[in-house]
Amino acid sequence: MTADSQSGRRTSLHGEWSSRFAFILAVAGSAVGLGNVWKFPYITGVYGGGAFVIFYLFCVFAIGLPIMMAEILIGRRGRRNPVATMSLLGEEEAGSSTWRFVGMLGVITGVLILSYYSVIAGWAFAYMWQGAAGNFTGLNAAAVGDIFAGLSESAVMTGFWHTVFMGMTIVVVAKGVERGLEKAVRVLMPALIGLLLVLLGYSMVAGNFAAGLDFMFAPRFSELTQEGALVALGHAFFTLSVGMGAVMAYGAYLPDEHSIAKTSMAIVAADTAIAILAGLVIFPIVFQNGLNPASGPGLIFQSLPLAFGQLPGGQFVAAMFFLLLTFAAWTSAISLMEPGVAWIIESLKLSRPVAAWSMGGAIWLFGLLSVLSFNALSEVTFLRGTIFANIDFLTSNIMLPLGGFAIICFAGWFMSHNSTADEIDPEAGRGYRAWRFAARYIAPIAVAMIFLNAIGVF
Ligand code: PHE
Repeated sequence: MTADSQSGRRTSLHGEWSSRFAFILAVAGSAVGLGNVWKFPYITGVYGGGAFVIFYLFCVFAIGLPIMMAEILIGRRGRRNPVATMSLLGEEEAGSSTWRFVGMLGVITGVLILSYYSVIAGWAFAYMWQGAAGNFTGLNAAAVGDIFAGLSESAVMTGFWHTVFMGMTIVVVAKGVERGLEKAVRVLMPALIGLLLVLLGYSMVAGNFAAGLDFMFAPRFSELTQEGALVALGHAFFTLSVGMGAVMAYGAYLPDEHSIAKTSMAIVAADTAIAILAGLVIFPIVFQNGLNPASGPGLIFQSLPLAFGQLPGGQFVAAMFFLLLTFAAWTSAISLMEPGVAWIIESLKLSRPVAAWSMGGAIWLFGLLSVLSFNALSEVTFLRGTIFANIDFLTSNIMLPLGGFAIICFAGWFMSHNSTADEIDPEAGRGYRAWRFAARYIAPIAVAMIFLNAIGVF
């Protein structure tokens, strides 16, 4: 008899992580991805740096961290896919299975995010080949811009790489999470950090490091717009993979004895460090070469190759860097699919491969809209811009915060003190009390205020 059944606790239907370290790696693999290296620099550039970065850090630690802990504890207690877990715990803790809609919102959010995430990841993969072929060597900013335009403005090329990346993602999800994922992250994450440090060295020597530092950290609070604050909030959710059940799904496979607080803090710290590192690499290059920091989703693809083109051995470094970025995106993409696939398997009783291929196929198809947003449909703009820009804005800045708000309110207000303490710290010590305070007051109030502020209530 297992420890689980002796204590009356539930066991996971999809296996468990082999160790706490394996779980940290899986969640870190989910958290660290395009959000850190591609999106953080690009939105920091668009929203003026400085105050945006500081506000983002506030959102990560005051809101994102307690929500990550809430997702892990809910996931581990329910031990099902996020929809079933929210339904089950909703019934148990709050007398209503209606909470399952929070899980469903998360599944839909994951599907929508992956549809465009895969397109950007495809670019990273394409750049690996460009780098390996030595195509960046000695280029100036204009020539690098041409390479990016050649890729993004070609529906065929962008579509091709989107297809390759979705295929890679589906293959892993079809096999099941425990196999493969752990091993990959264990090697790749340190390698990615190592290469970012090499690039940091380049930026410090050859870039305008002072301008980069100033841009990222000088607090010009008057420049933080209402929309910038909302985007910083949304990105805190996006980068930590919280608000849609990805971490909840992985929490379902976490053995009982592991500390949720320590694990979450390690992951949040690593994720934040990598984003800041990416910013410190990119902005000095941007300013040194007279690029526009606010140029949008192409920022890293238009700036980094300049560094690779000048670096000794840059051909190799470029190929390695984009390879690692593709891997980082891959482990994130897997976690974007896992909640939906686990749900389909458990509710429709389909096999894992069938669930993964059918859901992945649908995501791929929908992703073609994002592919075309950079070429054939680039003139089709409304609200926030292209179709891609709208899906990104809707998912990151509205759906994730909404899901996170519901999750944290559930954990803070609807779950009993005993249930949450049981998962985080049965003695209900200082750390637990701090979490509960953040879960009940700080996080929900902050999310609500940023939302109301963004829609102009105050
Ligand atoms: N956190 C991932 C990144 O930063 C993206 C992601 C969002 C993954 C939500 C899962 C869920 O790239």
